[in-house]
Amino acid sequence: MMKRFLRRPIRFLMAGAALVLLLISCQTTPQAQTTPPTTQPTAVASPGGELSAYPAQLPPLSYEYEALAKAIDAETMKLHHDRHHATYVKKLNEALKSQTNLQNRSVEALLRDLNSVPEEIRTKVQNNGGGHLNHTIFWQIMSPNSGGQPTGEIAQAINQTFGNFDSFKKQFNEAGGDRFGSGWVWLVRNPQGQLQIATTPNQDNPMMNGNFPILGNDVWEHAYYLRYQNRRAEYLNNWWNVVNWQEVNRRFQLASQQ
Ligand SMILES: [Fe+2]
Repeated sequence: MMKRFLRRPIRFLMAGAALVLLLISCQTTPQAQTTPPTTQPTAVASPGGELSAYPAQLPPLSYEYEALAKAIDAETMKLHHDRHHATYVKKLNEALKSQTNLQNRSVEALLRDLNSVPEEIRTKVQNNGGGHLNHTIFWQIMSPNSGGQPTGEIAQAINQTFGNFDSFKKQFNEAGGDRFGSGWVWLVRNPQGQLQIATTPNQDNPMMNGNFPILGNDVWEHAYYLRYQNRRAEYLNNWWNVVNWQEVNRRFQLASQQ
């Protein structure tokens, strides 16, 4: 009788211990699954990391509107940054407002995996996420008191790939001129590690095709029409007067680390 009385609390304690062990094991499994991978994809816009998609924020220009007048007039800069880029940011936030499962992803992550974005907002994310990313890069690779011949490692890489800077510039400008409608012309590092001139339609970014964007020029009419009207070739030619080779070299180094 006494033995039966003692067995019950022992069984009860053993069952309790088993339950505690089960709860501990349930807590540790998800933590192990969510450990970030050791190799993160390289950022393609922000020096500090990938670009926040939600909330997306308009980055301030690091120079005055009139600072790039060697290529782009102040009114175009103001409209381009304060209205066009701001609209991409606003529309990206609107598209992701109710998508709680996507809000912690970066713009780059969304563009790498557009198929995982619900179909009803996919085009909005592609266009406005791409627009936000492309323009963020664009403002960074231009600066006042810059332009001229390339410097640093990118200068050597351009010479090796295209013969010399003038030859590269000619091919880049021709590709930008041939881009039908709205889009971008880029110098990219392709997955084979080679430099290559590429164009993208609309607001697509080269990373969507596996290429790393090193520098890019916006050939949408909103980028040049006030000053150049239909003379896109003149805009493309003048744009080299404001290319920030220091930043382009930083991007080239990032691309090489991929
Ligand atoms: Fe633009």
